[in-house]
Amino acid sequence: MSHAQSMGAAHAVGARNSDATDGTIPTNTTAVETNPGCPLMPTYGPPSVMFVRGSGSELFDRDGKRYLDFLAGLAVVSLGHSHPAVGAAISEQANTLQHVSNLFATEPQVEVAQTLDRLNGGGGQVFFCNSGAEANEAAIKLARRYGGHGRHVVISAFRSFHGRTLATLHATGQPEKHEVFQPLPEGFRHVEFGNADELERMIDPSVCAVLLETVQGEGGVNPLPAGYLEAVRKICDERDILLMIDEVQTGLARTGEWFGYQHWPVRPDVVTMAKALGNGMPIGAVWAPKEIAASFKPGDHATTFGGQPLATSAARAVLRTMEAMDAPATVNRVGGELMAKLVDVDGVRSVRGLGLLLAAELDEGIDARAVATTCLSRGLVLNAVTPTALRLAPPFVLTSEEIDEGLAIMGAAIADERSTTPAKGH
Ligand SMILES: Cc1ncc(COP(=O)(O)O)c(C=O)c1O
Repeated sequence: MSHAQSMGAAHAVGARNSDATDGTIPTNTTAVETNPGCPLMPTYGPPSVMFVRGSGSELFDRDGKRYLDFLAGLAVVSLGHSHPAVGAAISEQANTLQHVSNLFATEPQVEVAQTLDRLNGGGGQVFFCNSGAEANEAAIKLARRYGGHGRHVVISAFRSFHGRTLATLHATGQPEKHEVFQPLPEGFRHVEFGNADELERMIDPSVCAVLLETVQGEGGVNPLPAGYLEAVRKICDERDILLMIDEVQTGLARTGEWFGYQHWPVRPDVVTMAKALGNGMPIGAVWAPKEIAASFKPGDHATTFGGQPLATSAARAVLRTMEAMDAPATVNRVGGELMAKLVDVDGVRSVRGLGLLLAAELDEGIDARAVATTCLSRGLVLNAVTPTALRLAPPFVLTSEEIDEGLAIMGAAIADERSTTPAKGH
């Protein structure tokens, strides 16, 4: 097959075969690796479903099958799919001004920066980028600029996740992800999550910052232990080290506060965010108090698309909608109900997390990946955040009926998985 022919086949995604080897994206179970004509690089697992539309907490595949979305595009679509205010904002902006570059200001960009500053307590400034990794990359550069020559090391926690660029990959405290990409940029150290004594021991004159999530999302939905953030703040103050909080997954009300760190009486020096800020439009941001932001000089950092009008018009609509609905209160209400019902699901041995970022630890011997796969086939989207735990990060608009419906699917999937592994179940 010629290249042109193979590209033509690759675009023929309307085909409905489930064992595609002809370049189509499969509708259901075909693995990418057994589908050499697939146009997507195999960086993700096999795409098992192709979604064509969504509304609120519902998704529909191209066969018209309905799914309940308990994952919200990995904590992105917090306002629900196809939110009308976001859609209207993007389409109006698309017909008004699509891009001008960061040599100039735009109205949505300025309003979003002002709102993010207010939600972080004021007195700060914002840098816009396009993703969570880019936000953390910018934070790391800001910390190095703040530290000055010889003071460039960033300490983060084991089991953390901060992104996939070379620097943020090294900041990510999962050494197994580092190996095949060595050598990684120098200047990162990892400590046990929640152990302030170890953190203090790891600090020497080369350290400029500590980078932490308030709930480790990708690492298994692990909230910070009580007292830890206050202890880290004290250490950072004593040693003149920046406390940088990665709110990429937890920010924008996901945990029941505007930002996860606001569960504790601590003001960070740098806050990074992305995911929910655009409800699906790619946008990331870094906030820092003005005196710390001033470490950046013109020319130190930049990105062509960061904060461009389409992305910031979506973010402006997201922030206005979230403020109008009191998103933190909504999350506390819906999250409280979800948590209360989740602990009663047979086969769930414990639930952890904050707000609407929860993990259900399953009974011993039950394979969370197998349960997630069964759930998907029965119309419920969630993911196995560890081999033994399911992550739930649904849209904030999830209704009581949808909670009941989703948890019924989940409970039945756990029961089925238990019955296929009788030796391990109880
Ligand atoms: C806490 C955290 N930081 C950073 C990232 C990376 O964000 P992105 O995938 O937008 O680069 C993620 C993504 O899951 C995340 O959860």
